[in-house]
Amino acid sequence: MSVAISAHRLAAALVPPVGVAYRDLADQIRLLIVDGRITAGARLPSERELAAATGLSRTTTARVYAELRDAGLLLSRRGSGSIVCVPFAESSASSLIVTPEDDAGIAMTYAAPVAPAGLGRAFENAIARLPGLLSTTGYLPDGLPVLREMLAARYEERGLPTSPDQIIVTSGALGALSLIARTFVEQGDRVLVEAVSYPHAHEAFTTSGARLSTLPVVQHGPWDVETAVDMLASSRHRAAYLIPDFHNPTSAVMPEAAREALARAMRRAGTLAVIDESQRDVNLDGVELPPSFGTFDRDAMLVDSASKTFWGGLRVGWIRAPRDLVMPLVQARMTHDLGTAAFEQLVFAEVLQDPEPVLTSALNGFRTQRDHLVDLLATHLPDLAVSPPAGGLSIWAGLPDHNSTRLVAAAREHGLLLTPGPRFFSGAPVAGEAHLRLPYTQAPAVLEDAVHRLAKAYEGRRADDAPDGPRLDLIA
Ligand SMILES: Cc1ncc(COP(=O)(O)O)c(C=O)c1O
Repeated sequence: MSVAISAHRLAAALVPPVGVAYRDLADQIRLLIVDGRITAGARLPSERELAAATGLSRTTTARVYAELRDAGLLLSRRGSGSIVCVPFAESSASSLIVTPEDDAGIAMTYAAPVAPAGLGRAFENAIARLPGLLSTTGYLPDGLPVLREMLAARYEERGLPTSPDQIIVTSGALGALSLIARTFVEQGDRVLVEAVSYPHAHEAFTTSGARLSTLPVVQHGPWDVETAVDMLASSRHRAAYLIPDFHNPTSAVMPEAAREALARAMRRAGTLAVIDESQRDVNLDGVELPPSFGTFDRDAMLVDSASKTFWGGLRVGWIRAPRDLVMPLVQARMTHDLGTAAFEQLVFAEVLQDPEPVLTSALNGFRTQRDHLVDLLATHLPDLAVSPPAGGLSIWAGLPDHNSTRLVAAAREHGLLLTPGPRFFSGAPVAGEAHLRLPYTQAPAVLEDAVHRLAKAYEGRRADDAPDGPRLDLIA
């Protein structure tokens, strides 16, 4: 069974073409396919429907589809329409596993670090503790007891009284978000989200049938608090998903007053707050963050992960859930994965015995990389609006020409893979054309190479006429 993409939906995700129209549109659709906004197996509208929805000629749309077919991204069969194919090597999933030996290009599609120094030692130490684990079945649907205790103690240190039985260890923060969505969100439920956000989380909610209501972006970040309070009061929202600490991709931090106001509005409306704190510890400049959102809403589901500060390869994340919601989550999980790998939990427990040295080394590395990328951009791409983020793993650069998709397509020609701004937007994706996310999770020499490739792509693009794209207030 294939998902049908309507001509209206596809047209809404495209910006008016420049240069050779069919090539430009084929590039745009190619990006929608490789980064997962249009999934493998989806059926595209007919050439005729797309022509009608975009106002382009039928000849142009036919050539667009021919380009995509030639690139191996579309299979057209009489009677079954045009079906999207995504060779693994082309997909954003493949860019997650680029190794240093690859000279295929540079992938900056993910904002995740390599393992910090010291993590290898934790693996070695965990081996010494392995016999105790091997004498059990290793099935841990709620998590390794010693790790749950340590994670609960970390919340206590942050002023949030937590007992170990409120902690569920998951396969990363994304596993946590999918579990929450599967457990509590039903077909047609409304879920409030930031308009600009981490897209896989939104997809976890829509996969469970959620209808997303998006918060407009405002000058100081992705939280228009007044509008959110109105939305929560005027229509029933089952849940709200927010990233208040070093928000991905903007790196914004939600002010304390906003946390208070939103928590109050959610409690009043009976909306489940799902709070992603996976970036909270990526605090490069040691800024004093407002208290955790959980301080203002004791019933919030707090989601966190070892991926950003330690290593994504551990696949260890967790949920701090209100007591009465723990069992529904554990039971829902039993139909899905029966628990996170036991050894990796043991490794993470080993890291948490003395996390400071590993964390300090990781944060020092990120800081150096961030500063380097900021300098490189100032030198080679001075048109970009860059404000160095105090935390998080990427720069959310402003593009004066509002042409993120086109720039990303051009960078690809220079062997640099990036994610265009619209990928991070729900509701009005074209609004993302004003931004480009640039992760600084790679070595300084790789960042230099990447910025040179990007600068070449930018120069090439500037030669074309930029369309007058929709305007959006830049996010600081
Ligand atoms: C805000 C946010 N939440 C969740 C995740 C998923 O992280 P994990 O590797 O823990 O599944 C990411 C990863 O990029 C993220 O940026």
